[in-house]
Amino acid sequence: MPHVLTAADLPVSEILNRAESWRTRLQANPTPPIQPRAALIALLFYEPSTRTRAAFEQACVLLGYHPLVITAEASSVAKGESLQDTVRTLCAQGIRAIVMRHPQAGAPQTAAQVATVPILNAGDGAHEHPTQAMLDLYTLWRHYGMPDPTTPWLAGRKVAIVGDIRHSRVARSNLTLLTQAGAEVWLCAPPSLLPDAPLKGATLTHDADAAIKDADVVMALRLQTERMQQGLLPSLNAYRRDYQIHAERLRLAKPECVVMHPGPIQRGVELSDEVADGAQSLILEQVRNGVYVRVATLEYALAE
Ligand code: NCD
Repeated sequence: MPHVLTAADLPVSEILNRAESWRTRLQANPTPPIQPRAALIALLFYEPSTRTRAAFEQACVLLGYHPLVITAEASSVAKGESLQDTVRTLCAQGIRAIVMRHPQAGAPQTAAQVATVPILNAGDGAHEHPTQAMLDLYTLWRHYGMPDPTTPWLAGRKVAIVGDIRHSRVARSNLTLLTQAGAEVWLCAPPSLLPDAPLKGATLTHDADAAIKDADVVMALRLQTERMQQGLLPSLNAYRRDYQIHAERLRLAKPECVVMHPGPIQRGVELSDEVADGAQSLILEQVRNGVYVRVATLEYALAE
């Protein structure tokens, strides 16, 4: 039974192809007829989410399953139930899969140890967010004309990920998939927001201009204030000055460079409006692709 706990668990070529076939199908008919099944898929969301949750809910509906959304406040977690017991309970009731977002790194692994159905990680603490990295990769794969995904199709491309790298599950999962496809990955943050240990395959820097110089892709990340200890970011104004992706800074990149962001954006902090909404931005494309990639990943995990 395939779990998707980290980006390394994803069969990348298969998901790219499945996502592309869903895109074609849904573009021909955005509300296809579905055969509803008398079965649920649980979405355990113990942290806030808009796009990831909406995309997974839509994915469940497209596959004919009813999404059962459970938040920490509205569940027995609030009564002190352990994650393991919640997972055992849902499995005993015949749930078909569990998608989960959790503030603690490693929570999906814990769930997988007791689950009898596939577990899909929708973000665990500062650890991993596999389907976000997968939709980012799918977005780039389409942007570059859908090259053979079994080749190092991102070789020679420089990707600069700029923002709160220390607390970013998106950066960690992206690093796995981008380097697997051959990209040169730079991770850039103020010194206090860089990881303590080097990350395999990445160039770490606190110099945003060096990271962005000649980049093919610039991915901006939100400051994860909910995961920050006090004092890690001394000044928001200094952050804007040194790390914000604005039109002038973007001119350091290749002229055809594209800009990405997993959302939610804090406009005027990590991105200027002009860049977020500009011609080089793939941000809404990422959001659209989130649906195709989630339905493809669920389909794979359910072995359909
Ligand atoms: C990210 C997340 O939750 O990890 N957002 C998302 O899933 N689209 C990034 C973030 O919260 O900054």
